[in-house]
Amino acid sequence: MKKITIAVDGYSSCGKSTMAKDLAQMVKYNYIDSGAMYRAVTLYCLRNNLFDGDSPNETALKNHINQIHITFQYNEISGKSDTHLNGENVEKEIRSMAIADKVSPIAAVDFVREALVKQQQAMGKNKGIVMDGRDIGTVVFPGAELKIFVTARPEIRVQRRLTELAAKGEDVTFEEVLKNLTKRDLIDTTRKDAPLHQAADAVVIDNSDLTIEKQNNIMLKLFKEKTE
Ligand code: DC
Repeated sequence: MKKITIAVDGYSSCGKSTMAKDLAQMVKYNYIDSGAMYRAVTLYCLRNNLFDGDSPNETALKNHINQIHITFQYNEISGKSDTHLNGENVEKEIRSMAIADKVSPIAAVDFVREALVKQQQAMGKNKGIVMDGRDIGTVVFPGAELKIFVTARPEIRVQRRLTELAAKGEDVTFEEVLKNLTKRDLIDTTRKDAPLHQAADAVVIDNSDLTIEKQNNIMLKLFKEKTE
C-alpha cells in the first residue's frame, strides 16, 4: 500500500489532535503535533525573558532561534510522544494556560515559522506521517494527498478545553477559556504569515456531534480512498 502524507488543520481546541493521533495509530503512521513546537518556543521565550508584555522581543529572539531544539520522544508509560525542548521533557508545561496565552504572537513571527516549517518538512520527507496544525495542508505539505480541516461549534470547543485543563488541575472559568480561544482564533486567522485557512482540496469535518468512533470511521474511509 502506498504511503501518503496526511495534514489535519483547524482551530484551537476543536479536537484535531485527538483525530490526528487516532488516525496515525489506526494506519500505523508517525504523528507530529506541530502546535507543540510553537508552544515549546513560547516556553523558551518565557524562561529567557524574550517577551515585552504580550509581544515577543523579535530582535532578541532572533539571536536565540538557532539555540532552540525541539524533538519528540516516545514515552513508554503514557504510550504517547512527549515534546522535548533542548533535551528536557516539557510536555506538561507547554499545555498550561500561561503558554496558551502567549503562543499565538510567537506563531506569528515569520522567522519562527520559517525555522519550524523547515523542521516539520524534514520530519515528513518519507511520508507515512499525520501532522496537525494550522498551515499543514496549505504551507508545510501543500502536496499532501489527504487534507482534513476540522471544525466544531465554539461552545463545544470551550467545554473540551475546560475539561482538558480541569484534568490537569487548572482552575479556569468558561469565560476565561472563551476569551483565550477567541483571541487565538483572531491572531491565527489574520496574521500576515501563513494564516489559518482551509486548503481548497481539504475535506471538512465538523465533529461537534460526532462520537470518537464515528469520526475515526470517517477518517479511515478517507484514508482508504486515497491509498487503495
Ligand atoms: O494546536 P495548538 O493549540 O497546540 O497550537 C498552539 C498555537 O500555535 C496556536 O495558537 C496556533 C499556532 N500554530 C500555528 O500557527 N501553526 C501550526 N502549524 C500549529 C500551531
